[in-house]
Amino acid sequence: PSLQAAKMDKLKGSARLMIVSDLDHTMVDHHDEENLSLLRFGALWESVYCQDSLLVFSTGRSPTLYKELRKEKPMLTPDITILSVGSEITYGEAMVPDHGWEEYLNNKWDRNIVLEETAKFSELKLQVESEQRPHKVSFLVDKKNAQGVIKSLSEKFEKRGVDAKIIYSGGQDLDILAQGAGKGQALAYLLKKLGSCGKTPNNTLACGDSGNDAELFSIPGVHGVMVSNAQEELLQWHAENAKDNPKIIHATERCAAGIIQAIGHFKLGPNVSPRDVEFPYIKEDPFKPTAAIVKFYVLYEKWRRADVPKADSVIQYLKNITDANGVIIHPSGVELSIHSSIDELASCYGDKQGKKYRSWVDRLVILQTASDSWLVRFDLWEAEGAAWACCFTTLALNVKA
Ligand code: GLC
Ligand code: MG
Repeated sequence: PSLQAAKMDKLKGSARLMIVSDLDHTMVDHHDEENLSLLRFGALWESVYCQDSLLVFSTGRSPTLYKELRKEKPMLTPDITILSVGSEITYGEAMVPDHGWEEYLNNKWDRNIVLEETAKFSELKLQVESEQRPHKVSFLVDKKNAQGVIKSLSEKFEKRGVDAKIIYSGGQDLDILAQGAGKGQALAYLLKKLGSCGKTPNNTLACGDSGNDAELFSIPGVHGVMVSNAQEELLQWHAENAKDNPKIIHATERCAAGIIQAIGHFKLGPNVSPRDVEFPYIKEDPFKPTAAIVKFYVLYEKWRRADVPKADSVIQYLKNITDANGVIIHPSGVELSIHSSIDELASCYGDKQGKKYRSWVDRLVILQTASDSWLVRFDLWEAEGAAWACCFTTLALNVKA
């Protein structure tokens, strides 16, 4: 067995939880320079859910703008990515496109007619080129003109036999999609696909903040959270269409913190992020290897940021959970004793204080090699402001008596 196979293993059964989340102003808080809630969610996901659950990002962004966001924010790598307002679906970190989905969307869609008709509206301003996609044409339009334009456009399309879906989001974006597209349709397609191989997720949680997310909340059986900072158009949709559905809540917390809140509200699983757990840690029973890794690097970050008190007990703890004969192989190739590295760390207390330093773990995969040992592989990210570095890390984990 390989670590690669272990990662795909989780798809061999039903996901314990499938989170389908919008990015801008939902998973990602653009008003939080520290990215705290995003980091809290990431640590929670990697420590408790990464092995047996599915993370799906569902964004209005094209692949181009999505990749840009990933370079700016400490986001996890999702298992599935729904892009361009549900008009593109890709799998895995390699982002392998679902061509079946794209073919299906061609039905009654004529992009040229859409361009022709929209050109007649002076209120519509075409968005940047990267956001114009095979099954999505996007504009900017003022709030005050939006409803009028939408109405006359739909009439025009109907007359010309084009089956289009028009969605207004964020009080500024107007997307014209092939009728079959949209975040909700894409989710329904994924659920059907998973179901056809007997892998319907045990629970699904949809998360969003704006108009193009409304569809996500109308898929049967799905739990939903509108984050506290949700846009007016989504709240209005909810008031008109889903007010009495107890499966949909309006969180009191912003963005990713609202997602964490919803996991708790619907009792979908653990919802305490390792970032929120204070040192000294209490021993976990049963031992969870993924949680141990995440907690290790959270503590490492807090030590260097001086976010934990400067106490010998921290260094003692780190030594206690590592092997006295263990080695670290540094990316340069140099081999160091783990314990002498930890001694070195002791003198680094607070060296990153006030420097916008963060460390987080992504793409964690784990392979059990015996009843009490594992091989773990992950990306260890360290960022100091805009300077990011990643170590592709492998480690061996054994349970001591
Ligand atoms: C993203 C896309 C944009 C779209 C908007 C709303 O910002 O880049 O093209 O209009 O989401 O769906
Ligand atoms: Mg959004």
